[in-house]
Amino acid sequence: MSKAILITGASTGLGAETARLLAPGNDIYVHYNSSADAAQQVSADVEQAEGKAYLMQADLTTDDGCRALVQSVFEKTDKLDVLFNNAGGLIRRTPANACDWSLMQEVFTLNTFSTMMMTSLCIPLLEKGDDPCVINNSSLATRHGAPTATIYGAAKGAINSFTMGAAKELAPKIRVNAVAPGVILTPFHDKVTTPEQLELWQENTPLKRHGHAMNIAMAIKFIIENDFITGETIDINGGLFMR
Ligand SMILES: NC(=O)c1ccc[n+]([C@@H]2O[C@H](COP(=O)([O-])OP(=O)(O)OC[C@H]3O[C@@H](n4cnc5c(N)ncnc54)[C@H](OP(=O)(O)O)[C@@H]3O)[C@@H](O)[C@H]2O)c1
Repeated sequence: MSKAILITGASTGLGAETARLLAPGNDIYVHYNSSADAAQQVSADVEQAEGKAYLMQADLTTDDGCRALVQSVFEKTDKLDVLFNNAGGLIRRTPANACDWSLMQEVFTLNTFSTMMMTSLCIPLLEKGDDPCVINNSSLATRHGAPTATIYGAAKGAINSFTMGAAKELAPKIRVNAVAPGVILTPFHDKVTTPEQLELWQENTPLKRHGHAMNIAMAIKFIIENDFITGETIDINGGLFMR
């Protein structure tokens, strides 16, 4: 049966690849904020793969933006099977001794507040879904400390906690999980990582390579298809962090 899948931040990187992978036979709500051309291309790819694409713009760093996006989804469907809270970013690197209030607000709003708000607002739609699930995008930065990304790591760490709490509250109807990607080559790193940093991380990774967006998209598909997983944050990082 066709699934209704909302992916936030589906214009580039992990969200875009997940939209393409999940497209066949499904309704994909392709959300973007500023990358309109890229999002349009993702929608075309979804349709090419025999999915139905609904393109939706919203800035998820505001309450109004989250509400407007969910209202647009409400206008197209009376149920949601999957919410992938993927939109996010590091914004900029800063040492722990130079925290700045506006950066902390920006990072937590983009990553944490948007994830919690979107989950909350989508519950009425998810309750009408078929084996509905929420998947949040966390990070390796929550696992073993990430120098210069401590604010981002803290914001994503809150997502891990939220994932467990929401999984218990929303069970048994709605499953809630997260993925914690390691270093995945997407536009994310163009903005905040130097080639030297990438090289060092690759050297420290047991598999001696970085991940690709498809590695995360496949994990999202696995979580959707396995109806006995909830409250989990799944690590996908080439062995850079092991439990
Ligand atoms: N790549 C990695 O190594 C890595 C590792 C761990 C976790 N992650 C997480 O994975 C997620 C996706 O990142 P990515 O690697 O795919 O990076 P990306 O290509 O930069 O994608 C980020 C997405 O977030 C959206 N976004 C940014 N600001 C937004 C806002 N104010 N409102 C709504 N949407 C906004 C962007 O939309 P527009 O471009 O349309 O504005 C874009 O679609 C993020 O949560 C990131 O923290 C990535």
